Amino acid sequence: MEYPGVSFVWNRRNMEYPRITLYTRNLVDEGNGKYNLMLLAWAEGQGSSIHDHANSHCFMKVLDGSLREVRFAWPSESEEEEEKEMQIIGQTTLKTNDVTYMNDSLGLHRVENPSHTQTAASLHLYSPPFESVLLFDQRTGHKTKGKCTFWSKYGVRTSFSAISAKLDAEDYENN
Ligand SMILES: [Fe+2]
Repeated sequence: MEYPGVSFVWNRRNMEYPRITLYTRNLVDEGNGKYNLMLLAWAEGQGSSIHDHANSHCFMKVLDGSLREVRFAWPSESEEEEEKEMQIIGQTTLKTNDVTYMNDSLGLHRVENPSHTQTAASLHLYSPPFESVLLFDQRTGHKTKGKCTFWSKYGVRTSFSAISAKLDAEDYENN
């Protein structure tokens, strides 16, 4: 499968993902409604919003490059009202082939490619699948609902564009 704007080829056997130029989320499999398996391609320095996982289990494997995960505590109602800065509870750098697990009981997180010279790619499995998540503002703890969108599904380009993803805060950009 080839992805426009991303000059890499999804090859299930070789798993090679060089030269990513745009950030993309690509749905690989829907598991008969039981899960979503997706490939995320991260350009240099790109990161997700702080997000929850909609009561699902999340498994993530780094396929290429490295990713930094920053975990945050859920803001309490009073903290959200006071617009308190969100509290960091952990930070991990995941190398190629590292696997991690996340769910709502472990907090919230942001995932980012910390490298300014190397792209990254990761495989994410969410079970059960979900269509929207909560996005949080680190400075105030305020949350908004974000819709999950895909750059491609089963290797076919969707109408969602990476450019609008950058401009539309309502759309959930990463996982
Ligand atoms: Fe996530």
